[in-house]
Amino acid sequence: MRVLTTIAETRRELDRARSQGATIGLVPTMGYLHEGHASLLRRARAECDVVLMTVFVNPLQFGPDEDLAAYPRDLDRDLEVARAEGVDLVLAPSVEEMYPVPVRTTVAVPELAATMEGASRPTHFAGVATVVAKLFGIAGACRAYFGEKDFQQLAIVGCLAADLSMPVDVVGCAIVREPDGLALSSRNVYLSPAERAAAPVLFRSLQAGADAVRAGERDPQAVIDLVAGLVAAEPLAELDYVELVDPATLRRPERLRGEARLLVAARFGRPRLLDNLSVLASEQD
Ligand code: PAJ
Repeated sequence: MRVLTTIAETRRELDRARSQGATIGLVPTMGYLHEGHASLLRRARAECDVVLMTVFVNPLQFGPDEDLAAYPRDLDRDLEVARAEGVDLVLAPSVEEMYPVPVRTTVAVPELAATMEGASRPTHFAGVATVVAKLFGIAGACRAYFGEKDFQQLAIVGCLAADLSMPVDVVGCAIVREPDGLALSSRNVYLSPAERAAAPVLFRSLQAGADAVRAGERDPQAVIDLVAGLVAAEPLAELDYVELVDPATLRRPERLRGEARLLVAARFGRPRLLDNLSVLASEQD
């Protein structure tokens, strides 16, 4: 495994591999890897000849009051995990390597970024879209692996790759969970024992929403109210939003038909946790 810090070297390695016919798998991360990240690395390893993981805590996607300085970091451990998963190349660039000062060009997908996470974090997705467009530019033709854990991010990244004609296939990967249902997240380390015990309420509430749809509920607002009520009943959870949307447009339909995505965000003490679940309103009822 080679650990690189410059864009030029990374591009050289990937161009060389592609000229020999190799396919490239890209796994963008902000480091502090857990099993969720590892599952993306494994999928990339299984499907591509050369796997590039990037580790970059992207300042552009943190708001002024957010946890950029406190974001957990451990590059040595991340490299161990990457090595164990068979990663070929790691790009871990400095902020100076990635951005000119001041930043001049940004990418935004306002139509998908206005609601949910974007409503709570107004500059977040422009920061994500900008860094991902840059990583796609660095990687070139590749398959790029993203978790469904950050469902709105996945939709935005897929949209920008298509709209900007980037030679990148965006691949969505299933959420990895703890045995009690809590979605793995780098921010889970900030949960107190009591908050950690309370946090699986998110997944349980989403499941109750999915069950209601399975049982015939077709009114999105009724499902949202049910899920919101269950989360709000947990004293340690401070609910931010519950939404039920079309997976491609991220708009709430008037009535449920076919596949939709049920999403939740809530704060438990310091960390804000996200989760989501696919719900299926089968056509016959
Ligand atoms: P980060 O939070 O490090 O996540 C990197 C990738 O891991 C994302 O695609 C995320 O959806 C995925 N992931 C996180 N937890 C997961 C879980 N429990 N199951 C499955 N996948 C999971 O997301 C980012 O970094 C950044 O915004 C980034 C895309 C790297 C741009 O800076």
